[in-house]
Amino acid sequence: MSRLGCEKWPARWKEFYSEVAEKQEKEGHALLDPAYYDELHEKYRVLPTYKELYKRTAVKISESAELSLFFALLCRALRDRAVIEEDLSNLDMPQPQRGPDAEACRVLPGLAICQSIPDVYKTMKKRRVPDDILYPSLRVAEAGVDFYMARHNGEAGYSNFGWWQRAYDATIYNVGRLELELPREFPNTYAVYQNKDGATVVFAKGMKLHRDGFAIGSYLYEDEKGAWTPTFEETEDHYVGHPFLESGYVSRERITLSKKEWHPVLVGGDPVVGLHIPAGGGLSDEAVETSFKKARSFLKTCFPEYSYKAFTCASWLIDPQLVDILGVDSNISKFCSRFTPMCMKSAARGVFTFIFRQADENFEIRDLPENSRLERGLKNHYLNGKAIYEMYGFFL
Ligand SMILES: CC(C)(COP(=O)(O)OP(=O)(O)OC[C@H]1O[C@@H](n2cnc3c(N)ncnc32)[C@H](O)[C@@H]1OP(=O)(O)O)[C@@H](O)C(=O)NCCC(=O)NCCS
Repeated sequence: MSRLGCEKWPARWKEFYSEVAEKQEKEGHALLDPAYYDELHEKYRVLPTYKELYKRTAVKISESAELSLFFALLCRALRDRAVIEEDLSNLDMPQPQRGPDAEACRVLPGLAICQSIPDVYKTMKKRRVPDDILYPSLRVAEAGVDFYMARHNGEAGYSNFGWWQRAYDATIYNVGRLELELPREFPNTYAVYQNKDGATVVFAKGMKLHRDGFAIGSYLYEDEKGAWTPTFEETEDHYVGHPFLESGYVSRERITLSKKEWHPVLVGGDPVVGLHIPAGGGLSDEAVETSFKKARSFLKTCFPEYSYKAFTCASWLIDPQLVDILGVDSNISKFCSRFTPMCMKSAARGVFTFIFRQADENFEIRDLPENSRLERGLKNHYLNGKAIYEMYGFFL
């Protein structure tokens, strides 16, 4: 591990280290045979662009005993879904050295993702997921390469592994311009009440807040002075608590809702469908509507037992300040306005990753490009000491 530059790796890997090493020594690894990728693409259409890159990487990894063993351990660990996020937070990926192995190190996580594809395909087929949703949902092997290349001047690599490896769970479905994730639970830090006219109020529950009413620990809201925790009470006749404002901040003022008029419609643990917005192509209202129409029918057919109560989204796209920056008529503003926004702890770095395509934090805001209204608006916003936050949003 240290020869690969991995300073830290999960202690639990020691439990299967010998077994994996022995097997690797005796049999090699199926995913290190370049023919594996021909077959994978033939069966599942998952490598239309980068098949040769994957084959080349398999050969390179198999030529290094250390990299092969690391790869086998990673593939083994990825099967333990309950602990994988913890594993990855305790793991340094091999550090690309200069020379021919550097590319192999960078692309290696993508090969490990490929291991999931046959099982995910089987699970989705069993659900009778239609092909026009199933095949795009399998495109994770290439998505991570595109993501890396867009942030490294076209150099090959695989990034955002922590996110793409969630493909193993077969819980993310690509439906038109949206990705749906299910099952998901509504967080217990929010509770939504509705009256007969359809008006809603969201109470904040138990989350620690900055004195200005935003989630403590968020960028610009690290200061603990005056921090507070909103209270919530349910009496025989009333719900009493601190509601979220239209800005997604929490009000200091408590309000009281009568049980005669208001009832809970969405509370912690309720089943919801999470939404993600892949890059590529615009987010026009028509495209979004078409995707929702398709999504509803897909959910009804393939998940008839899943009685979700809302669509949710955790993203920089939920911050209502975007409407001020872009005006109400932009696609982004229209998408944002579909959701009720609520603060969550946010580093406010999403726009640098997704819009300015920065690979890391080594940049100056004043040097960022200004090629569109969004880029100009965001840059100005941050230079004026403000930020765009990842927020949690829902609509019923
Ligand atoms: C979300 C997304 C599809 C919206 O694109 P869109 O439909 O073109 O957005 P709009 O029409 O509202 O764009 C308004 C302005 O912002 C600009 N803009 C939108 N997305 C941009 C991007 N990724 N990079 C630079 N500028 C962008 C547009 O060019 C337009 O400016 P202009 O009038 O000067 O040309 C797009 O931003 C995107 O692909 N983002 C990456 C994926 C992402 O962030 N997902 C969420 C992860 S949590």
